[in-house]
Amino acid sequence: MDKTSNTSPSTTMLTFALSLFILHLITSTTTDASSPYTPTDYFLLDCGSSSSSTSADNRTWDGDARSKFSPPNIANTSSPSTAEEQNPAVTQVPFMTARLFPSQFTYTFPVSAGPKFLRLYFYPATYSGRDNSKSFFSVSAGSHTLLTNFSAFLTAAGTVPRQPFLIKEFVISVNYNQRLDIKFDPSPNSYAFINGIEIVSMPNNLYIRGPDYPIPQVSQQQPFTIDNTTALETLYRLDVGGNLVPGKDDTGMYRIWRQDDPYIYGQGFGQTPHRDVTIRYTNDTPEYTAPATVYTTSRTMGKHNSVNLNYNLTWIFTVDSGFTYLFRLHFCEILQEVTRVNQRVFTVFLNNRTADPEVDVIQLSGDNGVPIFKDYVVWVPLGDNRRSKQDLWLALYPNMDSKPKYTDAILNGLEIFKLNQSDGSLAGPNPEPVGTTPEAPYPKSPEKEDSGASSPVLAVVGGVIGGVLVVAVMGVLIFRRRRRVRDSGPSVAKSSWVPISVTAGTSTSTKTNASSLPSDLCRHFSISEIRSATRNFTDDFMIGTGGFGNVYKGYIDGGATTVAIKRLDSKSNQGAREFQTEIGMLSKLRHLHLVSLIGYCDDDGEMILVYDYMANGTLRDHLYKTENPPLSWKNRLQICLGAARGLHYLHTGAKHMIIHRDVKSTNILLDDKWVAKVSDFGLSKTGPDNVAQTHVTTVVKGSFGYVDPEYYRRQQLTEKSDVYSFGVVLLEVLCARPAIVTGLPKEQVSLAVWGRYCMRKGTIDQIVDPHLMGQIAPECLRKFGEIVDSCLRDEGIQRPTMSDVVWGLEFAIQLQDAAERNKISGGDWIGIVGCHTMLSPATDDDVFSGSKSSGTSTLESGRRSENSYAAVGVGSENVFSQIVDPKGR
Ligand SMILES: *[C@@H]1O[C@H](CO)[C@@H](O)[C@H](O)[C@H]1NC(C)=O
Ligand SMILES: *[C@@H]1O[C@H](CO)[C@@H](O)[C@H](O)[C@H]1NC(C)=O
Ligand SMILES: *[C@@H]1O[C@H](CO)[C@@H](O)[C@H](O)[C@H]1NC(C)=O
Ligand SMILES: *[C@@H]1O[C@H](CO)[C@@H](O)[C@H](O)[C@H]1NC(C)=O
Ligand SMILES: *[C@@H]1O[C@H](CO)[C@@H](O)[C@H](O)[C@H]1NC(C)=O
Ligand SMILES: *[C@@H]1O[C@H](CO)[C@@H](O)[C@H](O)[C@H]1NC(C)=O
Ligand SMILES: *[C@@H]1O[C@H](CO)[C@@H](O)[C@H](O)[C@H]1NC(C)=O
Repeated sequence: MDKTSNTSPSTTMLTFALSLFILHLITSTTTDASSPYTPTDYFLLDCGSSSSSTSADNRTWDGDARSKFSPPNIANTSSPSTAEEQNPAVTQVPFMTARLFPSQFTYTFPVSAGPKFLRLYFYPATYSGRDNSKSFFSVSAGSHTLLTNFSAFLTAAGTVPRQPFLIKEFVISVNYNQRLDIKFDPSPNSYAFINGIEIVSMPNNLYIRGPDYPIPQVSQQQPFTIDNTTALETLYRLDVGGNLVPGKDDTGMYRIWRQDDPYIYGQGFGQTPHRDVTIRYTNDTPEYTAPATVYTTSRTMGKHNSVNLNYNLTWIFTVDSGFTYLFRLHFCEILQEVTRVNQRVFTVFLNNRTADPEVDVIQLSGDNGVPIFKDYVVWVPLGDNRRSKQDLWLALYPNMDSKPKYTDAILNGLEIFKLNQSDGSLAGPNPEPVGTTPEAPYPKSPEKEDSGASSPVLAVVGGVIGGVLVVAVMGVLIFRRRRRVRDSGPSVAKSSWVPISVTAGTSTSTKTNASSLPSDLCRHFSISEIRSATRNFTDDFMIGTGGFGNVYKGYIDGGATTVAIKRLDSKSNQGAREFQTEIGMLSKLRHLHLVSLIGYCDDDGEMILVYDYMANGTLRDHLYKTENPPLSWKNRLQICLGAARGLHYLHTGAKHMIIHRDVKSTNILLDDKWVAKVSDFGLSKTGPDNVAQTHVTTVVKGSFGYVDPEYYRRQQLTEKSDVYSFGVVLLEVLCARPAIVTGLPKEQVSLAVWGRYCMRKGTIDQIVDPHLMGQIAPECLRKFGEIVDSCLRDEGIQRPTMSDVVWGLEFAIQLQDAAERNKISGGDWIGIVGCHTMLSPATDDDVFSGSKSSGTSTLESGRRSENSYAAVGVGSENVFSQIVDPKGR
């Protein structure tokens, strides 16, 4: 910033002054003074906006309408527009406004020489009535082509995990002319658009380190060097084994570090130990390299024993063929037991080739708690069939040559960058349109309230309800831990999804040996093993019972492992064949947030399933009708997020979509680390294979109070039915009351209906669990309410996907975190008075008589109370009158 531009000095000086001022403004308000790095260039442009606005992370974005960075004829060459869709997962700034370009358009930023992050924000919504799937355009920055014939719509649809918006991040070196031109160029007969542009400088040697830092190249003798003629695109930046680190919590460059679990092969291998050690940065790994939270969390293979020799700890990433990729692996030994050389040594493979035969983190770093990173370059050629996208494998495997103390591997963080081709281009093809998930376009903003047509959940109350509740309660599997399993150490999270197999010190008599492949993971148990695990099914070991049979707690592997054993009643309708099919399907599902099937037993005509044991029981056990202490709001948010991730995986992670069909608080279990796991998807239905068909027609099943009203009406099951039920669970978590409480005034009986009503009326704070008094930040509550409301929309098509819900919840957590950081005094955080008056028994019999006395599910339309309840949309149709086998699940 110390040089004047050779183009038009006066303008540039002015711009500099302005940008300095903005910079000053921004750094003084938002950059934490303690950030390890303070950017010298920092621009945030909210495109399509004419004023400056603050984003959810409290950064100030300038409108581009009168910006110095926009060309003077901006009004004649482009048009501002506002997104016509709203999505709870998409933040207002900078996503809700866009600038549309019918022809070439260039923004020019005055920046200092050196490497910069360029972030382009896209939200493919409808703007000015234009169908966004028809927008194709190219973007270049300086001499580098970043995107060619790019479709934000197709690219967003192809994201894993699916997200409704895109943030494309590039690393560009600016030369001494000190300007960065960003050019948008629509494809023929198309238009270009952009929602936001962010430019942030970075330390000189962070990624582009020049000839002094040769980088080993996979399968090549010559090392690779990256100089300032090369531009990079960030494809993945992961806080391995940890949580999302939002831009605000980065080291000053606003990089986002995401979770690695979507990319783990086998969905859930390994363990995620973390420890709050003080990370000691060094000259080689300065503090700005990555935030300490990245280094204090990790993923390892786990048990430190020879089981780990059966598999590679593997991540899989989709990349474009025909490019070179830079991998940066961040390591830090954080476990107390690893402090010396040759304790943990492992090999790094990239695309099945050895990238590094021997990584010994302590040897490289010198000590526990000292971070390091290692770079590798790998060339991904066009495949045989010249597919444009392919999978890139990163795998870690214990290196036994040096006879290390532990048989294990570790990774703390990962960044993957694409390097420009020799012609300077970074552009790859758009992803193929995705067909596996029938993705409805996101709804128009529902300015109009739903006409009073539906929300008939309430109608299920009545005579039917008693029996139903019994069934629902009987279906509950209660997993309670009686004694603690031998633990491997305080900092090693004992992970319950790791395949149970040879445990140190125990002999195994099983026929199958665990191997690395998920299909081999499902273990066959003999009936004698099961009998000895449960002391011959003694009642003392019984922890639950239901229509399907009983659930027992059991100890296997010589008592080392606690499991839950579900013995299906041989009289139950499920045939042995179905049982087999189910095992086949379930054993392939592995995810941190799903209760895993460990094995089965089909000897002697038995139908027995063996699952992970969940020490903390069901979510409901911690919400109401319980002696357990109340969960904190933060805990509740994390649990909801975990469960949402589990459902998202069911919907999109497997080959065929799986619809749970019975999402409720008793089917969300908690392990000893309070990690939420979705359970009981055994009777789930796989979704349609065929894209054209968007639903499965089935007999309505599910639990009362949770069932999607649309599913009732149409008998057609879509994944959005799970979204609805999950919305009810979110309300349960917020209000700590059951989905249905009979005996309340009728408008309050159904939590879904009542909660939505209160939200509309703005009285949601009055039904919040009093235990949460003073814990919920108002902005977080607002976001949470938005998510709930959108999940409970009457029409499935208007509800968000589980991916949107995941994003929304992550965002709510960020809001809560931000507010907690800024909270000085108790302030006006939700403090609740009298909210549980709603839980006192109803006195207004009149209101409720319609369903109470008749014992049918029909509501009487004429007798509503004075309040504006009708506006919520409780209609009087008889949609429920032909109800439903109450024994259905
Ligand atoms: C946002 O920044 C303003 C101005 O510095 C500050 O008053 C406010 O507390 C911040 N809010 C959040 C949520 O960080
Ligand atoms: C924009 O267009 C109007 C009329 O079409 C014209 O009068 C004006 O000079 C143009 N402005 C610029 C900056 O090109
Ligand atoms: C742009 O991509 C779309 C779909 O991927 C394709 O139909 C179209 O022909 C492409 N246009 C150009 C100019 O390459
Ligand atoms: C790019 O790198 C070369 C040599 O490494 C150096 O001389 C030059 O100053 C660099 N340019 C910029 C703009 O940093
Ligand atoms: C690596 O090996 C796996 C199986 O071991 C295979 O599926 C995958 O295609 C291989 N990847 C490459 C790039 O060869
Ligand atoms: C681990 O990956 C490497 C490279 O793909 C492969 O050679 C090796 O066989 C794998 N090991 C196991 C146990 O799968
Ligand atoms: C990136 O593009 C530039 C030309 O803009 C070229 O000189 C450089 O070699 C390219 N980098 C790589 C890694 O091919």
